[in-house]
Amino acid sequence: VKVNGEPRRTIQLAADGWTVEIIDQTRLPAELALVRLASVAEVARAIRDMLVRGAPLIGAAAGYGMALAARSDPSDEALAAAAALLAAARPTAVNLVWGVDQVRAAIAALAPPARAAAAYRRAAEICEQDVAACRAIGAHGLGLLTRAADARRDRAAPLQVLTHCNAGWLATVDWGTALAPVYRGHHQGLPLHVWVDETRPRQQGLLTAWELGHEGVPHTLVADVAAASLMRRGLVDLVIVGTDRTTAGGDVLNKIGTYPVALAAREHGVPFYVAAPGASIDWTRERGDDVIIEERSPDEVTHLRGVRLAPPGTGARNPAFDVTPARLVTALITERGVCPASRDGLGALYPENVNVKRP
Ligand code: MRU
Repeated sequence: VKVNGEPRRTIQLAADGWTVEIIDQTRLPAELALVRLASVAEVARAIRDMLVRGAPLIGAAAGYGMALAARSDPSDEALAAAAALLAAARPTAVNLVWGVDQVRAAIAALAPPARAAAAYRRAAEICEQDVAACRAIGAHGLGLLTRAADARRDRAAPLQVLTHCNAGWLATVDWGTALAPVYRGHHQGLPLHVWVDETRPRQQGLLTAWELGHEGVPHTLVADVAAASLMRRGLVDLVIVGTDRTTAGGDVLNKIGTYPVALAAREHGVPFYVAAPGASIDWTRERGDDVIIEERSPDEVTHLRGVRLAPPGTGARNPAFDVTPARLVTALITERGVCPASRDGLGALYPENVNVKRP
């Protein structure tokens, strides 16, 4: 995806060859600020404080976090501590633990002095894998967009897509999950327009608007609570969201507010698609209710940009994700194709994982 006309990735090794360069997403859209992470503790903090965010990008950052850990101390004990530190940073996105486990598995059998180089190699592969998965999701998802566009009465009018939170380039290494089909369609000349849910309380919709703007995709920002009403007025052709974890049974954990969008879509007969790369699928959990939902600070609800809005003494709850039951999901878009949100649907695309057991 381009920023200021230049293709960019969200994470990469810095010019020194060992520190990890990320975009500080807490400063967007006001400012594009790059930050260098030089230790596993810095990576864990960047994930916890959401400088890097979005399930696939968290997984990629976690991979580099393990590489930084191996560079500083490749002993088994230090690596176990690093893995625990990263895993505790944010509990819901399964990609985080996936990224950690991928790097640990790649280096476990090596002698300690060989571990750092192998860890960096595996972390770089995770990034490439994510880019490839997002590209493939873009291709599979575009098929759905094209079919929806062909089915419209007015074929010349732009296809109306609604998305929630940010599941674009910024949430991945490149292209995005939910936005990959949108970018692909836009590049191929499919007329489309994106309704962007603002997404309280962290306002990731502003990130979506920012990246769509840089790529020249027509879009309009709306408060999340407007989504159902847009659907009722016939202004939405389809919904695509991302996922932080999709269970083996097809339940979707995603940014808080996704569930109400899915309920509204069902009520109004609007297809509700979830872009779910394989690394976001949790084969060890059958139901969404079996997953820990991250509770973030109440301050994110009571305050806006550091200013308290809630009356003194008013408390707040801040669950960061919700569960959309599989029955509300029209289909999952994975890098291996489109499938029903069910164990059978996923199992047909990922047969190697169907027998994974809950630990
Ligand atoms: O809390 P965040 O901003 O890290 O959450 C990201 C999301 O929930 C997104 O909606 C996204 O779909 C999942 S990552 C592609």
